[in-house]
Amino acid sequence: MSETQDPDRSTTDKLADAAASAAHAAKDAVAGVAHAAKDAAGGIRIPGAPGSEPPTVAEPTEPREPLPPKPEQQAPAPVSPTGRDTGAPPDARAQDGAYLTTAQGVRLYDTAHSLKAGARGPVLLQDHHLREKIMHFDHERIPERVVHARGTGAHGVFQSYGNAAPVTRAAFLAEGAETRVFVRFSTVQGSRGSADTVRDTRGFAVKFYTEEGNFDLVGNNIPVFFIQDAIKFPDVVHAVKPEPVREIPQAQSAHDTFWDFVSIHTEAQHHTMWLMSGRGIPHTYRTMEGFGVNTFRLVAHDGATTLVKFFWKPRLGTHSLVWEEAQLIAGADPDFHRRDLYDAIEAGALPQWELGIQTFPDTEDQMFHGIDLLDPTKFVPEELAPVQPVGLLTLTGTPTNFFAEVEQVAFHPGHLVPGIDVSNDPLLQGRLFSYLDTQLTRLGGPNFPQIPVNRPHVPVNDMLRDGFHQDAVHVGNASHYKPNSIDGGCPFTIGADGGGYVEVPEPVAASVKERRAPESFDDHFSQARMFWLSMTPLEQEQIVQAYTFELGKCYEQAVKERQLLALANIDPELCRLVAQGLGLPAPEATIPLADDVVVSPSLSMIGKAWPTDGRRIGIVADESSDLDGVRELREAIDAAGMVPLVIAPHGGMLGDATGAPLPVQRTFLTARSVELDAVVLAGAPAPGPDATPAHDAKAGGDPKTPSVDPRVTMLVAEAFRHSKAVGAWGAGSAVLAEVGITGPGVVTGDSPAAVLEGVRELLAAHRVWERFPVRV
Ligand code: HEM
Repeated sequence: MSETQDPDRSTTDKLADAAASAAHAAKDAVAGVAHAAKDAAGGIRIPGAPGSEPPTVAEPTEPREPLPPKPEQQAPAPVSPTGRDTGAPPDARAQDGAYLTTAQGVRLYDTAHSLKAGARGPVLLQDHHLREKIMHFDHERIPERVVHARGTGAHGVFQSYGNAAPVTRAAFLAEGAETRVFVRFSTVQGSRGSADTVRDTRGFAVKFYTEEGNFDLVGNNIPVFFIQDAIKFPDVVHAVKPEPVREIPQAQSAHDTFWDFVSIHTEAQHHTMWLMSGRGIPHTYRTMEGFGVNTFRLVAHDGATTLVKFFWKPRLGTHSLVWEEAQLIAGADPDFHRRDLYDAIEAGALPQWELGIQTFPDTEDQMFHGIDLLDPTKFVPEELAPVQPVGLLTLTGTPTNFFAEVEQVAFHPGHLVPGIDVSNDPLLQGRLFSYLDTQLTRLGGPNFPQIPVNRPHVPVNDMLRDGFHQDAVHVGNASHYKPNSIDGGCPFTIGADGGGYVEVPEPVAASVKERRAPESFDDHFSQARMFWLSMTPLEQEQIVQAYTFELGKCYEQAVKERQLLALANIDPELCRLVAQGLGLPAPEATIPLADDVVVSPSLSMIGKAWPTDGRRIGIVADESSDLDGVRELREAIDAAGMVPLVIAPHGGMLGDATGAPLPVQRTFLTARSVELDAVVLAGAPAPGPDATPAHDAKAGGDPKTPSVDPRVTMLVAEAFRHSKAVGAWGAGSAVLAEVGITGPGVVTGDSPAAVLEGVRELLAAHRVWERFPVRV
């Protein structure tokens, strides 16, 4: 029976079906490629290979064409700077031919020696190849983004469910529309080389290459912002960036200037509260919610308008790291989020989010249930306005070249398509100036829309001419001015009926010019209090710890005391607990506490079950372990869409003697629990020859089990400490018992299959939260 024949099925069911079929379609699009690669690798595909084919030990000397990209790599669409399909293959690359050449295409016979007067020099100025090579290298760097410098990106597809069509005429939201996208995730405060897992807001920017031109949804993973007016953006960014004298700390908010600013500028308190929660340390980009933050306006076919807020809901749920884990990862694998995203795509666990909208009547006061929709420090709880899913985003490909795509992509909240317009939110209005302005410098001139990743997939006839790095060869005598007759009047403007972008004719109230915010922007604490009261006790503990840690890192007593005052105005218990940790008295609130706060349970990240795609399970084994069981477990993990990593005393293979060797991904030296979601012990590995503190300080503890490699017990204990699932069978179960790893979240069983079943159930809840008891 079709959906239309079945009036009883709920909208939610229908949307779930649509999501499932869209997910299927997107997966099919890349599945052929991913499976081919897996077969070629001869067995389970472990992501992370640097190239598309395994290298030989000896340096290759036979000339050949450049190797193809890896199967999961995708490139920007092969369209010209003016949006025309060039017919080039999708994997068209910049480098061609089997031979090394100069930039002018002249073949070279040597690139390792400068041209010299004799073998011992001097070097000759005549050496064009030397000068060209060094000149180009000298200019490889471009300015990093002034904010959001550290990031990663991927290609994907957006499939519309069609249910937003009644409120917007945007073609990419029509029934059945499918649109290519490029997505960039980022941190805000750190430099381009900073660690991924610092406590920070994350960027979530999506470029839709729609049939009506590019639409950018430039959002964050927190639905509210630090400031209400864009004029203060330099202030908040200067406050959080490294302090100017010593240029420290890198990518951290735990320092005086940040807390000095937010404690005086109390409209930042709501955003700061989110930052101190698990939202500030996302587990992965794949498990991160996204928000458009500012209120936008949708325009229907008949011109009717609706105010809207945008959401991205991850299919795998919203999850966080724990703080100690985040700190360890920043050292052990600073590229953790980037690696996770690319590994997941490579392993075929394609990340997915549903685009959701909250809609509000476009009333004159632009308020909803007393919440000012133009105030970006406020959000509307889902309990008041449900989020309606309107389409599915699936990331299907890693970039072909990181610099060309991820570094050069240029997002802008003003890149709008017919059917979507801006509101008067003063933060959004300032953003509309800032992005173009900064990109002019960052990308070296005004022609960055012509960079392949930025090109629209529709005809471009913009009358913009010349400038640095002009890639288009414009034709015609006169078509760069309007009106003209010499060029036949080309190009022509068109109204809304022909797809022209026409701004909503919004009335502007009679007013005076002034530098002032509306009174409704004055409340800085009630929604911070709502967030605090909506958290589970465990999440509240984590927030208390985060404030205590961050303020504990500040030097100035006055800054700490002032922030405690702000906390007192949010919640006295929160203030008391943080003050206790700082060793300071808890001040009294200076304003009446908001006592009519409605809590929003949907803000909590704890208490549900989610799919486990792409989760990493470490299997610890040595030659004495049940290697048949390990083989079986690897296959079962792979079949369940997760990634098995064998961890052994040495690299290479385990089980050579049995004739069915098992590839090893990590050794006791290289493995760290923080890169795993669960650990399973397949035996009781004896101390390896390198298990000495001098060789590996991790081996220097005080093991309760001298017969087991101390790095194994440390690995398991660390995973346990971070509330991760720990499993074992056979001799491994005895090791867990001996080191006291028992209780909730520890799965022992007779067979690997039984252990995996238990571990998977725990992974669905993300962590074994019971292992973090809370104070009462
Ligand atoms: C609702 C609040 C805001 C959100 C959600 C937001 C989001 C983002 C995101 C996701 C990026 C990274 C884009 C990328 O991946 O390339 C970004 C970059 C940037 N943002 Fe914002 N931002 C906000 C407020 C502001 C404000 C108020 C300003 C300035 C007045 C601003 C200026 C910038 C600049 C200059 C960049 C760097 C752009 C580039 O170099 O390409 N942002 N923002």
